[in-house]
Amino acid sequence: MVGKMTNQELRSLLDEMTLEEKVNQMQQLIGAFLTDEGVVTGPMQEMGLTEERAVLAGSVLGSYGAEKLKKMQREFIEKHPHRIPLLFMLDVINGFRTVFPIPLGQGASFEPELSERCAAVAAKEAAVSGVHVTFAPMVDLVRDARWGRVMESTGEDPYLNCLFSAAMVKGFQGEDIKEPYRVAACVKHFGGYGAATAGRDYNTVELSEHTLREFYLPSYKAGIDAGAAMVMTAFNTLGGVPCSGNKWLMRDVLRGEMEFDGVLISDWAAIEEMIYHGYCADRREAAVRAAEAGVDIDMMTGIYSEHLCSLVREGKIPQKLVDEAAARILELKNKLGLFENPYKDADEKAEKEIILCEEHKELAREAARKSFVLLKNEDILPLEKGSKIAYIGPYANNRHMIGSWSIIGESKDVTTLQEAVKEYDGNAQTVFCAGSPVLGDNIKLEGFVGNEVEEAPVRDCGQMLEEAVCAAKAADIVVMALGEHYLQSGEATSHANIQVPEVQMELFRRVCEVNERVVVVLFSGRPLDIREISGKAKAVLQVWMPGTEGARAIVDVLYGAYNPSGKLPMSFPYCVGQVPVHYNEYSTGRPCVPGKDKDRFRSKYLDIPNAPLYPFGYGLSYTRFSVSKIALDKECMTRDESIRAEVKVKNIGERKGTETIQFYIRDVAASVVRPVKELKGFCKITLEPGEEQTVSFTIDDSKLQFLTESGRWESEAGKFEVFAGTDSSTVNCAEFKLN
Ligand code: BGC
Repeated sequence: MVGKMTNQELRSLLDEMTLEEKVNQMQQLIGAFLTDEGVVTGPMQEMGLTEERAVLAGSVLGSYGAEKLKKMQREFIEKHPHRIPLLFMLDVINGFRTVFPIPLGQGASFEPELSERCAAVAAKEAAVSGVHVTFAPMVDLVRDARWGRVMESTGEDPYLNCLFSAAMVKGFQGEDIKEPYRVAACVKHFGGYGAATAGRDYNTVELSEHTLREFYLPSYKAGIDAGAAMVMTAFNTLGGVPCSGNKWLMRDVLRGEMEFDGVLISDWAAIEEMIYHGYCADRREAAVRAAEAGVDIDMMTGIYSEHLCSLVREGKIPQKLVDEAAARILELKNKLGLFENPYKDADEKAEKEIILCEEHKELAREAARKSFVLLKNEDILPLEKGSKIAYIGPYANNRHMIGSWSIIGESKDVTTLQEAVKEYDGNAQTVFCAGSPVLGDNIKLEGFVGNEVEEAPVRDCGQMLEEAVCAAKAADIVVMALGEHYLQSGEATSHANIQVPEVQMELFRRVCEVNERVVVVLFSGRPLDIREISGKAKAVLQVWMPGTEGARAIVDVLYGAYNPSGKLPMSFPYCVGQVPVHYNEYSTGRPCVPGKDKDRFRSKYLDIPNAPLYPFGYGLSYTRFSVSKIALDKECMTRDESIRAEVKVKNIGERKGTETIQFYIRDVAASVVRPVKELKGFCKITLEPGEEQTVSFTIDDSKLQFLTESGRWESEAGKFEVFAGTDSSTVNCAEFKLN
């Protein structure tokens, strides 16, 4: 084994390596790529990879488990001419085996430090299982709930996304990725993947450079500034050029402007997909384009391994491209300390002690509680212990609530709502019934393998429904646990209709006919069109895909042990025809503002409102808060000065509660039109009943900067408005001037 590397030693190692060795550092393999007899297997074979090349590879995707990875590493190193260890990479998204709420749910906490802690726990569990790199955080800005991958993002707001991006990178990596229990983070998908046209996954992205830079790029930059060791390319095109071959994006923006000097990996087969985009004629040309763009690792195609050596030898691409990529990959291995200890934290004993330990589960419960958003409550929640409650719906006793990206998480580790309610309230009057399957016959999850989709044995639907209606009739309160199937959101799960499956809506309607006191607990990976549900139910609690301890957290909230505090990180549309809908839109020349909203020639729909059903930043509590008129300490400032904005917040209800006061700014007239509001700060405070606190926000030049007509981030003198409130629809506003 090679010892710890100084920069000089790394350089000498590189000098000693053959071109083949360097090129194959850029090749990623999956799983058991070699049988015990040393034969290349499965997809590796399909990728055209030979044994000689496989034994030189740089990294492996998708494997975990200390024993297995230690063995793989040991055998690999023995065969490698320079004993260079592999990097093990895996998608550790919202947790490893202990599963936290999906990232969109974490966004609703408005508490980036919480996500930092979740990421640190995920890193620890992954690290002891032998993993070195996680393909997270996904920091794509999202506006279109039809796109299934909104669940992996923290939402529609650049400011909030930046905070979460940085926090997650810090959580995974800590101060130094070489430290125990840390893994390298990979910010993805660069760039603008969240803007897939019409919400259809992998679709073309059409963004002006201005919009790309101002709204979409900041969250990647925040992750890079926080030290992310890796970045992943996106599947989409930008300006007609696939990201994985986009020199402007990767060389000028990522490496140049953002000063990223880590490892850039393609997304899954994205190098080859440049052929299907119609950008490259064949695999060889794809290799050239990706290498020229500076993509260091080819995930899952074998293209680099197949073509880069001959391309260099024939002088079609400079050797320097390969040297640089190999150097970056070796540097990452060195930063992780793999030359000293190629197994890093992989440890079978620690796996047993650490994974799913009580402390981790407790954090999963805390994170879930904080991610829930109370959308409506007409004096029905919290519930009283001992009441006669019927829990109805396919999520009443369902373990599939960890989300589709929890690839290591196991539903058997999940407590169901029925189990959690019984733990808390053993009262015999509480009844539970599914009432319907999650999906019903008319929804097919194409491409998923049978048992992934399989629910609890589905009985005769008519009988299930009647049983539920009977239970609803007899109950004082009905809690309906409804929502999307967990596989309906995630990658390749675009939907043109974003409603709760019809079979559940029928159940909901029938239950509402016989019982007026209906609370809906809503499971989903995306904002849904819930107009009918929120119209009829007395309360709606949005719980996303809440993770391993989700059910216990739901019980904490339903019965009032925890007062809900989540805020929507993404608008809930009025209906699907409104998406993409987001709060930070532009005014237009014909704004549909109060007083003008009855005019015909305004920017509006004739059949629905412009406003979403529930806006960004929205979320109720079991108590109420009053927010005073916003006050400023002065009305003018220069660029060297600041203004203090203040509101007094008072808990005017009967319970202790947490509120998130949000500060938004609008630049009234500028060289480039500005959004009607932009989140620039927030403050999460907890108040006892009757308690009042002053919340302040400092407006300095940094809060007023934007990408001006000149292409610089700077402020422009003139009039501004600052808003303070409990969600993005606030009209609590004051004006000031920047001189
Ligand atoms: C996804 C990435 C993921 C990769 C590896 C791709 O399909 O787009 O987000 O990291 O697979 O699993």
